[in-house]
Amino acid sequence: MFDSLQALPPDPILALTPAYRADPNPDKIDLGAGVYKDENGNTPVMRAVKEAERVLLAKQDSKAYVGPGGAAGFNEVIASLAFGDALKQSLGERRVSLQTPGGCGGLRLAAEFIAKANPRATVWVSDPTWPNHRPLLGAAGLTLAAYPYYDLDSHTVRFDAMLESLSAAAAGDVVLLHGCCHNPCGADLGREQWREMRDLALDKGLVVLIDMAYQGLGDGLEEDVYGVRLLAESLPEMLLVSSCSKNFGLYRERTGALSVICRSGAAATAALSHLAATARANYSMPPDHGAAIVQTIMEDAGLRADWERELAEVRDRINNLRAALVRELAAAGAERDFSFIEREKGMFSFLGVSPEQAESLTGDYSIYLVKSGRINIAGINRNNISYLANSLAELLRAGV
Ligand code: LMR
Repeated sequence: MFDSLQALPPDPILALTPAYRADPNPDKIDLGAGVYKDENGNTPVMRAVKEAERVLLAKQDSKAYVGPGGAAGFNEVIASLAFGDALKQSLGERRVSLQTPGGCGGLRLAAEFIAKANPRATVWVSDPTWPNHRPLLGAAGLTLAAYPYYDLDSHTVRFDAMLESLSAAAAGDVVLLHGCCHNPCGADLGREQWREMRDLALDKGLVVLIDMAYQGLGDGLEEDVYGVRLLAESLPEMLLVSSCSKNFGLYRERTGALSVICRSGAAATAALSHLAATARANYSMPPDHGAAIVQTIMEDAGLRADWERELAEVRDRINNLRAALVRELAAAGAERDFSFIEREKGMFSFLGVSPEQAESLTGDYSIYLVKSGRINIAGINRNNISYLANSLAELLRAGV
């Protein structure tokens, strides 16, 4: 029966990594998958993570099962990181959190949970959004719809169009928002826009699902959760997916969480039972190691301070690279205003090139990027930035 299956096209993001590795061009640049790289092109293990691993190696005395919801201690520290201690306290028993296999596991669990609670819910995703959002949410059988989000010509959020589109959503529909550092466009909602979004959700009875994959990579750990906290303190129900892939650099350890806020403690208890049963029916329980690292760091003042310092270094480097790229493109004579790159946040921005131009950057210049024109800013360094800027300027002049 297996020979009835046709091969699927490669993943639009993940396939870029092996293609880059196989390219013999010494000038090649990897701006594909959203993985942080330092000046030498390496993705280092963060200092606090290494130290936490040493601590764990010495003190861990069992590998017995933990449970479908993961480690209770991790769930508390990850909820504190997102909501802050005061709000977490005031949410009390209305909030439950479960450790998940990365942010992807959290999104999939959220989707299955939504499908159980309201199978008729439409989930509204931004146009554009991370390409894996649709498969993750759609796999649970949910209907998806798109709301306009980013204008590729003006490089701004199409906020009026977004609100107008979402005002057609039905009560009980779900709106997926990016908590910060929008993937793929890097353009986030401003504070006033978050407030308007909250008002719309309250007015229309919409449930918000926030994907928080980059806390700390935009403006700061606290600054980046403005929207999360505003909505969590105002809305009766909400879902939040946290990822530790980027801000702790734990990509392959698959470390994340899903938090659900319900109208009452009783509803939250029921929700938790469904979430745990869904986890059990999918992967039984999440992997432990990454979550144990995060918990160890967050519960140790010294490790936590060092993690925050290194995260700030990462954030500053990305923001400096944004400014440097804008300067280099101007110096290379690029006949376009790229200043938006400096205004945008996090790992990603669109270069504003067509899929054909993106293909030409890869095929003719060995610059690897997603065909949508999305680049991972963190893949730039002082050795490759001129080549990148000159190649792009040349491509734009050629008018391919
Ligand atoms: C990305 O968007 O490049 C990252 O989140 C990696 C992934 O899983 O797609």
